[in-house]
Amino acid sequence: MSSVQACSASDDERRPPAHDLLEVAQRGLAREPKRLPSWLFYDQRGSALFEQICEQPEYYLTRCELSLMEQHAGSIADTLGSDVRLVEYGSGSGVKTRILLRHLHQPVSYVPVEISPEPLHRSVQRLAHEFPGLPLQPLCADFSKPLRLPIPPRAPRHTVVYFPGSTIGNFEAHDAAALLRKMRNEMGDVGGILIGVDLKKDPARIEAAYNDAAGVTAEFTLNMLARLNREIGSDFELTAFAHRARYNPMAGRIETHIVSRCEQQVKIGRNKALFRTDEAIQVEYSCKYSLADFAALAEKAGLAVLRVWTDPQQMFSVQYLARASVDPH
Ligand code: AVI
Repeated sequence: MSSVQACSASDDERRPPAHDLLEVAQRGLAREPKRLPSWLFYDQRGSALFEQICEQPEYYLTRCELSLMEQHAGSIADTLGSDVRLVEYGSGSGVKTRILLRHLHQPVSYVPVEISPEPLHRSVQRLAHEFPGLPLQPLCADFSKPLRLPIPPRAPRHTVVYFPGSTIGNFEAHDAAALLRKMRNEMGDVGGILIGVDLKKDPARIEAAYNDAAGVTAEFTLNMLARLNREIGSDFELTAFAHRARYNPMAGRIETHIVSRCEQQVKIGRNKALFRTDEAIQVEYSCKYSLADFAALAEKAGLAVLRVWTDPQQMFSVQYLARASVDPH
């Protein structure tokens, strides 16, 4: 029998109540340059649009990672070893997770960590059906904050944090190192991190992935404004703004902005945000790494790269990290 522990909406910390959302928007739009946090993308509509992005022909990331998982699941499972407690940062409803779970040797439990209760609940329902013997311990929480992991049903040999999708790329270098350090604490002395990392490549290929011809990414980006209109009653006129995603080769990242097409003002609660023509709101970074860049980042977090699985064109990588023998702090 699968055992599923309950998760409740009251544990949901990252999604702030409406007045906090107002404060987040007011604060971000009062900055110079303007900036809004990328978690604002992921309301119900935004999450559905992100799923669609993953299916666009230009968005190679999902397909590459999936095919790496399909090809190397056996060797990944051998590397992780037996009696693993797998902690996934994210809801874990995905195909990649299911491939991994299917190959793991006598897993102790699976702990998906997700901020939104509904996707977490849905993914657990699905997994319970497919993996009736696997203890599922969903945790409704913000994975970027320190976690209190549920007590496992039996002692795991290793705790492995799984962080697919190159979501690490959405954190700036300093925050990415801090997040890896936090994972390092959570996995303990003999644990590991299995992480998907998008690699540097021809900038045109990267830019195309964030500017799909069907316009799904543009809709995803502008949905942030639609969400604010819905939830805090702002009056963004969506047609007066544009999506812009450009690769910055110096920084090695896609920089996504929402650009005002004209001079305008927008009501944000009792405040007004003024926009000049072409003024941009920075909304997301998607950092790309070389294998050496990522090894250096891991090292900063006291981690060493033990294994890398990549495709012949080195488009994407799945990497396994463990504690470096020398602690940097
Ligand atoms: C979730 N994350 C890894 C995506 C990325 O590629 O940075 C989010 C995304 N934004 C636009 N397209 C996809």
